[in-house]
Amino acid sequence: MTSVATDSRRRFIAGLGAASIGSFAHAAVEPNNSGAASSLAPAGQDISSQYLLPPGMIHLNTASLGATPRVVLDRTLAAWRELESSPVLMAYGNAENTVLSAVERVRKRAAGFLGCEQDELLITRCTTDAMSTVAQGMRWNAGERVLTTDREHDGGSLCWAYIAQRHGVVVDQIAIALDEHESATIVRRFAAAITPATRVISVSHVISSTGLRMPIAEISALARERGILCVVDGAQAVGAIPVNVKALGCHAYATSGHKWLMAPKGTGLLYVSSEASAAIQPIQWQDGRRYGAESAGVGPQPLVIGLGAAIERMQGIGMTAVERHGLALRNRAYDQLTIIKKLRVISSPPGPSATAIVACVLPDDIDSMVLRDTLLAKHGIIVKMSEKRHFNGFRLSPHILNSEAHIDAALKALRAEVG
Ligand SMILES: Cc1ncc(COP(=O)(O)O)c(C=O)c1O
Repeated sequence: MTSVATDSRRRFIAGLGAASIGSFAHAAVEPNNSGAASSLAPAGQDISSQYLLPPGMIHLNTASLGATPRVVLDRTLAAWRELESSPVLMAYGNAENTVLSAVERVRKRAAGFLGCEQDELLITRCTTDAMSTVAQGMRWNAGERVLTTDREHDGGSLCWAYIAQRHGVVVDQIAIALDEHESATIVRRFAAAITPATRVISVSHVISSTGLRMPIAEISALARERGILCVVDGAQAVGAIPVNVKALGCHAYATSGHKWLMAPKGTGLLYVSSEASAAIQPIQWQDGRRYGAESAGVGPQPLVIGLGAAIERMQGIGMTAVERHGLALRNRAYDQLTIIKKLRVISSPPGPSATAIVACVLPDDIDSMVLRDTLLAKHGIIVKMSEKRHFNGFRLSPHILNSEAHIDAALKALRAEVG
């Protein structure tokens, strides 16, 4: 019933599309590869004009939210203007030159970026939304179990708490010590915690509070061996390190646009591998795997165009170069932080389990919130204090907008405030 109405509406709009929009300047929402070449902050060069941050502000908290570059924001706003020039045609019409069609092309680009098929990718609002879509898109029986860790972010764990409450599912957690860096031990702990009732292993690709890179390929392989689904929260990975979901071998992978990709706020992605499509059925795909299917409704199309521009920018720089830049900055921070006696650096030393995030525990007499506020108010430096349930401390997450000078300024400020 619905699909007949849907089809006729779509046919009507599609028929109108190309002719009626006429001189629509859709180049504004199409890839133009601008801004990629000089987007890494090289030594001694100030690239702050590419961003909208106030002069002098040092943003070292991309892991919470990335600063969207002007070039991406401009494309977002251009798409928004075009959408508003003819809302119904632009948002519903599937002619080549509508915003909706450009959004579908973003989905294709994003799929290529993550190494999957376009039909395996759902555009979401954020990682939390994507993780909830997985949990709610599965059929559950009381007593089934989800295996995860005690280091997950709420955005990757509350969906399982919800399923536990509603369906009587049991959530098991393996413990990961704050300063644990050895991936083989972690994999063994997962293996030992699997029970015959375990249906899902849910784990972060990069642990939010410490930056520990988790052995996802090994955990996925373990899950497959035991007939379990592996669901990955990739909020702290995509845009920071190269990610290929097929190579990782997981069944589902959730991520955000608005962190390391530096895309507009309110964008995310969910990969559901076609082989897991019987087990994980996002409600948004009930009417087909298209953006804006009737089962998904109208989405924030201009933001998605911005997401496409942000991915295109990362592709232009190259994820290997992005990762290398982040690691060099965090290693510089790591080396200097380990010399400050009052701090205990808990992130991995430079090596295979390190990422751009570096975190420290503070002594009990220094409150992380107070330190965070002081660093901003006195030094113009933005860092994240850790959630107290994890530890009293802070995290730096340098990215492509940051330079060595930013790390040195943060370290100088920390030495002044912490001693
Ligand atoms: C590991 C992890 N998962 C999920 C989230 C939530 O992200 P979002 O707000 O995009 O849902 C975060 C945010 O910091 C995170 O670090």
